Amino acid sequence: MPLVTSTEMFKKAYAGGYAIGAFNVNNMEIVQGITEACQEEKAPVILQVSKGARAYANHTYLVKLVEAAVIECPDIPIVLHLDHGPDFETCKACIDGGFTSVMIDGSSKSFQDNIALTKKVVEYAHDHGVVVEGELGTLSGIEDEVVVEGEGSYTKPEEVEEFVSKTGVDSLAIAIGTSHGAYKFKPEQCTRNAEGVLVPPALRFDILKEVSKRLPNFPIVLHGSSSVPQEYVKMVNEFGGKMPDAIGVPEDQLREAAKLSVCKINIDSDLRLAMTGTIRKFFAEHPDKFDPREYLKPARANIKELVRHKLVDVLGCAGKA
Ligand code: G3H
Ligand code: 13P
Ligand code: ZN
Repeated sequence: MPLVTSTEMFKKAYAGGYAIGAFNVNNMEIVQGITEACQEEKAPVILQVSKGARAYANHTYLVKLVEAAVIECPDIPIVLHLDHGPDFETCKACIDGGFTSVMIDGSSKSFQDNIALTKKVVEYAHDHGVVVEGELGTLSGIEDEVVVEGEGSYTKPEEVEEFVSKTGVDSLAIAIGTSHGAYKFKPEQCTRNAEGVLVPPALRFDILKEVSKRLPNFPIVLHGSSSVPQEYVKMVNEFGGKMPDAIGVPEDQLREAAKLSVCKINIDSDLRLAMTGTIRKFFAEHPDKFDPREYLKPARANIKELVRHKLVDVLGCAGKA
C-alpha cells in the first residue's frame, strides 16, 4: 500500500488501547531495521525525519529510502512524518515533498504565537491531504536544535481545548515528564527498587487524564519516550564509551500511557544506543575488520530486535496492521 496519513491508525489505536511507534530514521540500516520488524510483526508504523536528519541525509534520500520500505513491506501501513518542524517553510517543503504528516513545534513560542503558526501549517497541510501534530508544553533536554533549559514546563490542561479548536491540529504532543535524549532523569531524582535498579519519578498521568477528559477521542503524542535499555548502556560503557547515569522512561509507564489516549510514542535514543553499542562491541572484538557492511549488519539486526520488543511489549501494536 502507498504511504498513508496517521488518521486511521490513530482512530484504531485510540479505540484499541495501544500506540503506534514513531521511530526516527537517518540512514538505510535504521529504516530497514525498523520496517523489517514491523513487517514481521504486522505493525503499523510512523517513520519520522527531523530537521537534523534532512540536513544529514538529504530530503530526497530519506523519502526514497522510505518509499523503498513501502515496497518491501507491503502488508503494513507506513506514515512519513516530519519530526519537530521548526517553521512553516520546513513543513511546506515536506508537505510538497512527499510527507504524509508533519509536526509544527511552536512549543517554545507564546501560546498565541504557537496557535498562529500551527494554524498556518494546518491550513496548508490539510489543503494537501497531510495531517499535523502540534505541541503544547516543553520537554527538558534537546528538541532538535532547541535546548530547553531546566525542567521544561508541563502542558497546562486548561489550554488544550482552545489550542486544538483554533488550530485544527490532528494530534497533540504534550509534556508530562518525558524528555529527549539518554539522560532523562538524574540518579538523585530516582529511588532504588528491591533489585537495586534505579526507578525514575512517575510520569504525570494526572495531566494526561485531564487533557484526555477535555479532548475526548483525540490522539495524544508522547515525545522523549526512550527507555534507555541498560543492556546497551552497559555495552557502550564496556567497549570504550562513557555514558554514566543514562536513564530513560520505564517501559511499563509507556504501556500504561498507550492504553489511555496516547496514540503515538516517539523513540529515537534507544535505537541510537543499540546501534552504537553494537558497533563499539564489534570493533572491540574484531579490531582487524574495516568493511562497513560487517559492523552495520549486527547493528541493523539489533535495531530490528529492539523495535520488535517495543511493538510487542510496550506499544501493543503488533498484529494491528
Ligand atoms: O527529538 C528529537 C529526535 O530525537 C531527533 O533528533 O534532531 O538529533 O535528529 P535529531
Ligand atoms: P528520545 O530521545 O527519548 O528517543 O525521544 C525521541 C523523540 O521525541 C523524537 O521526537
Ligand atoms: Zn521529540
